[in-house]
Amino acid sequence: MSSSAPAPATVTRSNRDPLRLVDVDFVRFYVGNAKQAAYFYAQSFGFEIEQISDLTTGSRDAASYLLTQGNIRFLLTTGLHHQHPACQEVALYGDGIKDIAFTVDDATKAYEECLRRGAESAYEPVEVSDEHGTVVMAGIKAMGRVIHSFVSRTGEYSLDNVKKGGQFMPKFQKQTDLAINQYNRQNPVGLFYVDHCVANVELGKMNYWVDWYSEILDFNLFKHFDDNDISTEYSALMSKVMDSGRELIKIPINEPAEGKRKSQIQEYLDWHNDTPGIQHLALLTKDELHTVSRLRQRGVDFLRIPDTYYETVWDRVGEVKEDNEVIRDLKILVDRDDKGYLLQIFTKPLQDRPTLFFEIICRRGSESFGKGNFKALFESLEIEQARRGNL
Ligand SMILES: [Fe+2]
Repeated sequence: MSSSAPAPATVTRSNRDPLRLVDVDFVRFYVGNAKQAAYFYAQSFGFEIEQISDLTTGSRDAASYLLTQGNIRFLLTTGLHHQHPACQEVALYGDGIKDIAFTVDDATKAYEECLRRGAESAYEPVEVSDEHGTVVMAGIKAMGRVIHSFVSRTGEYSLDNVKKGGQFMPKFQKQTDLAINQYNRQNPVGLFYVDHCVANVELGKMNYWVDWYSEILDFNLFKHFDDNDISTEYSALMSKVMDSGRELIKIPINEPAEGKRKSQIQEYLDWHNDTPGIQHLALLTKDELHTVSRLRQRGVDFLRIPDTYYETVWDRVGEVKEDNEVIRDLKILVDRDDKGYLLQIFTKPLQDRPTLFFEIICRRGSESFGKGNFKALFESLEIEQARRGNL
């Protein structure tokens, strides 16, 4: 080590909190066939198939497709041989989310700090570098099959550079001539970032993972009017929301509860090899009506909402600036809290198993998650049932 005084930049860096999360670096999916999945997400949801890492770029173990839209970066990864963890996990869980990765100043320090606080290692620090820069990654285990990677980047691989279209990591190659990318640029869907990411855990484990996010990653229990358990006869789940701070990401954690019907959380666990995992990603748009009409044109399959929902919704939420008729035609849900309102809609599962789905959300002041819609949806289904004489 040099005996001379360290440069000011070094002092600043070493004094920083190792768990200061700069951004969501990427969300990694393990899928059975990344090439085909990339076209599904590009065609259905307007993502750009921006960069690819596969045999042709020197990646011998896995193929990964970087899909981008706004500040969303999905990495779709398929193993190229049967021992690759992606192949093994797809066999157990089907396609789904493996990793919510965070950009940090120093991935090794963030990882070591988490282990010191009691986290379990998912993988030790790995460094990949070439003449353009360096990327260091290390991972810790979260609930079930989910991990959080820490990613630190230098040189041309800085996240700012990646956001401007720079190369994602060594062995990735930009795609310049895909017709689907050109179409998507001309017909933007308008998704901006991952608003929240919901995890399903086993009965009795919600509070364990609330404490884990608080103790290991310094997340806070998000305080707002419905931060208590929302177990009702309708929702059949309990949920607490963990907040990363700095408006980066919120992670609601659900556990099953007894209700009138089988809990949707239990159904997820049944089809996810009894293993906790990510149930949905909520992708934020600033114009729900535009985004949802584009997604419907592209053939996205949304949950069916009974017309009866719209017989009571405006009494419940009051005035909104969007056209009420268009909201009804597009089958968008609306909810209000003390800070404002939100518009939301849920896709059907994105793969054959009833596991991962997306939510498309637009916030007009509201900071909550659409709790009022649980009850409203079940009630409107019952109105339909009653009309059929089946209640
Ligand atoms: Fe949600």
